Amino acid sequence: MDKELALKQTEALVRETLTGDSSGHDWWHIHRVRRLALELGKAEGADLFIVELAALLHDLDDYKLVPHCDSEEPERARDWLEQMEVSLEVTDHICQIIKEVSFKGASVDSRMTSLEGMVVQDADRLDAIGAIGIARAFAYGGAKGRLMHDPEVPAVMHASFEDYKKNSGPTINHFYEKLLLLKERMNTRAGKQIASTRHEFMKQFLSQFLNEWDGQA
Ligand code: ADP
Ligand code: NI
Repeated sequence: MDKELALKQTEALVRETLTGDSSGHDWWHIHRVRRLALELGKAEGADLFIVELAALLHDLDDYKLVPHCDSEEPERARDWLEQMEVSLEVTDHICQIIKEVSFKGASVDSRMTSLEGMVVQDADRLDAIGAIGIARAFAYGGAKGRLMHDPEVPAVMHASFEDYKKNSGPTINHFYEKLLLLKERMNTRAGKQIASTRHEFMKQFLSQFLNEWDGQA
């Protein structure tokens, strides 16, 4: 198996599959996650081939994007890696990362079991916070027909992945249910640093948003 070729062909597959997405999971999300994951992976001494392939494939089996798909068993990614003749060991490692990477609710453990996984999870989470994170959250809310904000609907700290998946609350709640919690759950040193800047920006945004909502300047 030629690693360069496998990466190139995987990029083409993912670009083609996610191009039309308007829920914040389009190709450019994958592009940003790959770039950040490679940067964090270099600093952490991770296996960069695994990091790059996992970053490229991490949303291919996501339940949020593909009806009836389940990242618990990332079949599309596995079939693709088999087709690319990637070794079973590397394929298993990448599928394990895809299974573990997603946020599963405020009170649910989503710790990664490998260094490469920690790097990919940090990169994915960094793209969920800050200015881009805010934009993605509202894009997702719009794509799923959610309200921006409803002061009568309280945020929920989900205790199970099932409950988290079923949730259809307004987008502002998502900040309290997930996005503001990510800073404390970063795995890598560089990831923590970037998260801290993006976190502050989100807090500023929320404060301004809620002030305007209340009719203040
Ligand atoms: P994860 O696998 O951790 O869910 P993804 O890369 O699949 O990460 O994307 C998660 C992003 O999707 C969130 O950061 C947010 O932008 C959007 N999203 C998911 N659920 C919601 C929601 N209930 N309300 C608003 N945005 C959401
Ligand atoms: Ni993602």
